[in-house]
Amino acid sequence: MATMADVARSAGVSVATVSHVLNDTRPVLPHTRQAVLDAIDELGYTPNTLARSLVTSRTRSIGLAVSAISNPYFTEILQGVEAEALQHGYSLLIADPHDDPAHERKVVQLLHERRVEGMIIAPSAQPGELLAYLGRHRVPAVFLDRLVDLPPDDDAPRFDQICAESTEPTARLVTHLAGLGHRRIALVAGRPGLSTTAERITGYRHGLAASGLPYDERLLVHGHSESAGAERATTELLSLGSRPTALVTANNAMTIGALRALRAHGLSVPADIALCCFDDFAWADLFTPRLTAIAQPSRDIGARAVRVLLDRLAAPDRPARTERLPCAFVHRTSCGCPDTPQRPDGPAQPEKSEKPRKGTPS
Ligand code: HPA
Repeated sequence: MATMADVARSAGVSVATVSHVLNDTRPVLPHTRQAVLDAIDELGYTPNTLARSLVTSRTRSIGLAVSAISNPYFTEILQGVEAEALQHGYSLLIADPHDDPAHERKVVQLLHERRVEGMIIAPSAQPGELLAYLGRHRVPAVFLDRLVDLPPDDDAPRFDQICAESTEPTARLVTHLAGLGHRRIALVAGRPGLSTTAERITGYRHGLAASGLPYDERLLVHGHSESAGAERATTELLSLGSRPTALVTANNAMTIGALRALRAHGLSVPADIALCCFDDFAWADLFTPRLTAIAQPSRDIGARAVRVLLDRLAAPDRPARTERLPCAFVHRTSCGCPDTPQRPDGPAQPEKSEKPRKGTPS
């Protein structure tokens, strides 16, 4: 395998000059630079980044720890992170903490041992050990999706956080259904302890209040952010004496579970029960009916997390910040609105287009 010394000899320059060309550490005359690049090409020289890291103490890598990587929402976040990292010359090491605090602490340690320069993490519902580890080892980290309560202490480590708006978009789904005449609107909520779950529950309650509807605790069930959990929770709702006439599901996986339960009960959407969901996904418009959904800016969340992390690496002492990205209301037909082909599957439709249906349930 060709070495840097071979490249230097072939180009007729010093090893230091080859290094400056490779690392952009000092200006090199154009014709010298070209001679080095030609020699690299000719000899098939491949830089050893491990050796370079030993010299520079920089690995140019970022650790990404998100659970449920197979969930399209997180897959899109990953795509955003990867593309942005690559653009800035960083590569990724990826781990799945499986939403388990002990496993989370372990994978974060493994990433740290690989000397990633910083981490992007979707924290679990009990992030205590994670925070302690990151703080103890002074690991620069950005949290995404799930917000963590951080002490407002000047000496505490500074963690930036990026997530989508959850409260107002969930309220929007509820007021939309209420505007169509529904009075018994249920929520299949996510895993307790996650900020996204808490905010979507708050949004649900705001939506009910804004529509003048009472909060009935029997209509709030927990699907634990997963399909199977949502299937059980929806089945529970359907066994109530007075069934809900509309359902809001708080993430994509739970939408699938809820649809399974509805099918098992022979119920059709939206004729028997209306459905609105948090999370849009690539095939949501292939369902019959097409799913009315809140679309999160998943790729942007990932890309933004990288930029904020690189910012943090450049300015370790700057104040921590929390950024929220807006979601879009994607108005389709599972809510019970008629299919209008000219309606774009795009962001929010004006409220005035949401006329109550005839014979709406009460
Ligand atoms: N958080 C936010 N949105 C989601 C999640 C999550 O854990 N899973 C699917 N959509």
